[in-house]
Amino acid sequence: MTKTYDFGLVGLGVMGRNFILNVADNGFTAFGNDLDDEKVNALISEGGDTNKVNASTDLKTFVDALTTPRKIMLLVPAGKVVDIVIESLLPHLDKGDIIIDGGNSFFTDTDRREAYLKEKGINFFGAGVSGGAKGARLGPSIMPGGSRDAYQHVKPIFEAVSAKYKGEPCVAYLGPKSAGNYVKMVHNGIEYGLMQLTSEIYDLLKKAGGLSNEELHDTFSKWNEGRLQSFLVEITSEIFEQKDGLGDGHLVDKILDKAKQKGTGKWTSQNAMDLGIPVPTIDVAVSMREISALKDERIKADELYGRPNPADVDKADFTNKAEQALYFAFIVTYAQGMHQLADASKEYGYELELGEIAKIWRAGCIIRAALLADITEAYQANESLENLLLSPSFVEKVQVTVAAARELVAYGATNGIPLPGLSNALTYFDAYTSSRLPLNLIQAQRDYFGSHTYERVDKEGIFHTEWEE
Ligand code: 6PG
Repeated sequence: MTKTYDFGLVGLGVMGRNFILNVADNGFTAFGNDLDDEKVNALISEGGDTNKVNASTDLKTFVDALTTPRKIMLLVPAGKVVDIVIESLLPHLDKGDIIIDGGNSFFTDTDRREAYLKEKGINFFGAGVSGGAKGARLGPSIMPGGSRDAYQHVKPIFEAVSAKYKGEPCVAYLGPKSAGNYVKMVHNGIEYGLMQLTSEIYDLLKKAGGLSNEELHDTFSKWNEGRLQSFLVEITSEIFEQKDGLGDGHLVDKILDKAKQKGTGKWTSQNAMDLGIPVPTIDVAVSMREISALKDERIKADELYGRPNPADVDKADFTNKAEQALYFAFIVTYAQGMHQLADASKEYGYELELGEIAKIWRAGCIIRAALLADITEAYQANESLENLLLSPSFVEKVQVTVAAARELVAYGATNGIPLPGLSNALTYFDAYTSSRLPLNLIQAQRDYFGSHTYERVDKEGIFHTEWEE
């Protein structure tokens, strides 16, 4: 096979096949590889002209078909498979070739692989790809990290295939080493938060507001035309419309209330703890998936305790407040995720530009939202913004919506409707905006029982008191 293809892709599952067809649609030639004959044949037949899109199960044929430096993207399950594919590719590669891991790999795995491959003269990229199967086909948001020099070879292809926001590509070089995977991980953490919040608002509107699925569809559709415009609000409105293909009624009501997870939300939370950055809305979104998994226990406990009947509400007013509360909590969730990125950038030397990240999230990815245009502007106005909540442009957005969040959180607490995402967003906001917190007492307690010392508000230095004397 002569070296004629611009781009290689290993892993022809739905994401891989769609991505490679997207590459071909944008004027590049592409070659795929998979162990599975059926997947290889499916791509060849879907690709049409084999001079443009071709594939083989044979790794050597695949590698030999690519122009150098080879640009080989892996869209295979995160974890061991990535290492196995890298090892099998290595004997066939030349110095300067580029491997791009497009999966949701854990960022420390990416650092390890990058260092290992660097010794062999191979460039390694961790490039998060967001947007699901449709995004891969029509334009995802891509978050690459790795060698800046090697990125120049990948850039034209990624810019062509990525989603566009008002003509601007939703991809940018983000930083060295695992910067790309890290950013994608936090993207997913934010995704968990937004999804949890949306489900809480659904619960409120359904149980307290008494909204039918048709009304929920109308409500979310309307919201999607305003400041809440986002991919998640849009698909939520569509979900409420979907009839059950296997029985009567709407599908949403037949879906078991146990949410699965693949780990990226949990990693975001775990790493935020390591960094010492609070992301409680994301933390609780992970916990809620865990609580949801305890279905049998929840059924028993429900019988033991029961719950109050939700108090009557004015439907229109309640729905209006739900929109405000959701907007408020979305802002807080993005703020937490961006805060984590800012800190991780310092800790891991990523040199992230938060404005660039917000920019490439404006289209293509799962958390795309009208809000991201405002977030982009906030970071463009002040790249060293510590927290979105400190941006003057966000103060007003929060001030006009926080009261509704307070009202709904209070309603949920009184009426037994769990709102952990919304209440955490509110509590985070109240704590973050408090110049004085009661943690002076914790310092006193620590010093009392463990001589852990404390600082004072009125004098420099470290103090200890013999409390019991
Ligand atoms: C994306 C998504 C995607 C993720 C799914 C499922 O950006 O396209 O984040 O990468 O895998 O959302 O994640 P969970 O199974 O953990 O919910």
